[in-house]
Amino acid sequence: MTTQKSPATFHIKSYGCQMNVYDGERMAELLGSQGLTAADAADADLVVLNTCHIRERATEKVYSEIGRLKVRDTAPPPMIAVAGCVAQAEGAEIARRARIDVVVGPQAYHNLPRLVAEAAKGGLALDTDMPAIAKFGALPARRKVGSSAFLTVQEGCDKFCTYCVVPYTRGAEVSRPFDAIIDEAKALVDAGAKELTLLGQNVNAWDDDAGTGLHGLIVALDKIEGLHRIRYTTSHPNDMREGLIRAHAEVGKLMPYLHLPVQAGSDRILKAMNRSHTRDSYLRILDRVRAARPDIALSGDFIVGFPGETDAEFEETLSLIDAVRYAAAFSFKFSARPGTPAAEMDGMIPMAVMDERLQRLQAAIIRDQTAFNAATVGRTCPVLLERPGRQPGQLVGKSPWLQSVHLTTDAKIGDLIEVEIVSAGPNSLGGVESVKAAA
Ligand code: 5AD
Ligand code: SF4
Repeated sequence: MTTQKSPATFHIKSYGCQMNVYDGERMAELLGSQGLTAADAADADLVVLNTCHIRERATEKVYSEIGRLKVRDTAPPPMIAVAGCVAQAEGAEIARRARIDVVVGPQAYHNLPRLVAEAAKGGLALDTDMPAIAKFGALPARRKVGSSAFLTVQEGCDKFCTYCVVPYTRGAEVSRPFDAIIDEAKALVDAGAKELTLLGQNVNAWDDDAGTGLHGLIVALDKIEGLHRIRYTTSHPNDMREGLIRAHAEVGKLMPYLHLPVQAGSDRILKAMNRSHTRDSYLRILDRVRAARPDIALSGDFIVGFPGETDAEFEETLSLIDAVRYAAAFSFKFSARPGTPAAEMDGMIPMAVMDERLQRLQAAIIRDQTAFNAATVGRTCPVLLERPGRQPGQLVGKSPWLQSVHLTTDAKIGDLIEVEIVSAGPNSLGGVESVKAAA
């Protein structure tokens, strides 16, 4: 490690899940509040890699990015801080392999300014403590956000699915207090957010001493003036309480979308994964959700090639997909993660078999996603405009069902407008503005 000067500029690169995106934004606000200014990765004095440990490929990216930064030809090598789940899981090991300056875990990033100051004196500054979400109280208030913003309400996981590193990297399930969430939600709305996505590794396990449950929190958020849309992700089937299902029927601002990972369609594999639900109990939950909100868009996560998965067991995943007809899904090849029980299991599936299964699974998902999108053609729905499109005058927004909608309009990013859906593809919709919403 070389002796560093105190950095004046910073760049944050986030990998992985939406919670990392949220954490990255909060780190940027924190560094900004200390007088640092944002810059490109090519010339920033400090680069924070906000990392993901969920699959092997995600972890490898960190090491190659560190290598690239060390030899950038646009400026001298920056001070490098590794944050996020790789920092938590591999701690000082990364510093041994890659000569970096700061290691900061996902529960400790409120200490980033102190760690950066320490590293500027020379040597490695490391903090991977896991105080139960103490960081939120130590972060600056929210000021400027886009029309759709993330809000972490819960972190960590007690479920210990046998393939998953999250319980080790993010710690035990902890809910942020009700009042802190409402305050942050109001601040986000004041800062320009019209849509809030509540985040948690098990967001539907959110609760407080009063037993409010996530549905109670959603009902309270529904009352915030200026907030138009509420979403939440990601959920575990076993925490899908009746109140939350009912909220999908009763709470006007709660969007008709549910991401409910299942991972596999075979009971034997679900048991080996320690998912603690069955194929049937999962399907019955979806029946109840659809009874509450018939137009709901369902999405899920899938892992193919879990150790010991037979062809017949994989077929059960395909038949579950046929039964559900998802509007979207995320699918992954099993990745053996160090320290997890599944990494030690017998029956590792060859990569070629995993590739083939993933392809078949994704073909089934694309089929259903295309059909779901096609079924919205002819409908008129509110669209929240989020970013410019590829063509001049074109903007891209989100439908209530989280589909991307492309349209040409004079409206601005951040506007919520009524759009008639006129065309559909596998990944997006085309629309025409109808009447401007009162919003
Ligand atoms: N291998 C492959 N996929 C995984 N996921 C979590 N751990 C692993 C792993 N070891 C997937 C699950 C989870 C999503 C966030 O990532 O599908 O729901
Ligand atoms: Fe990982 Fe399972 Fe917890 Fe999800 S529920 S974070 S997959 S251990």
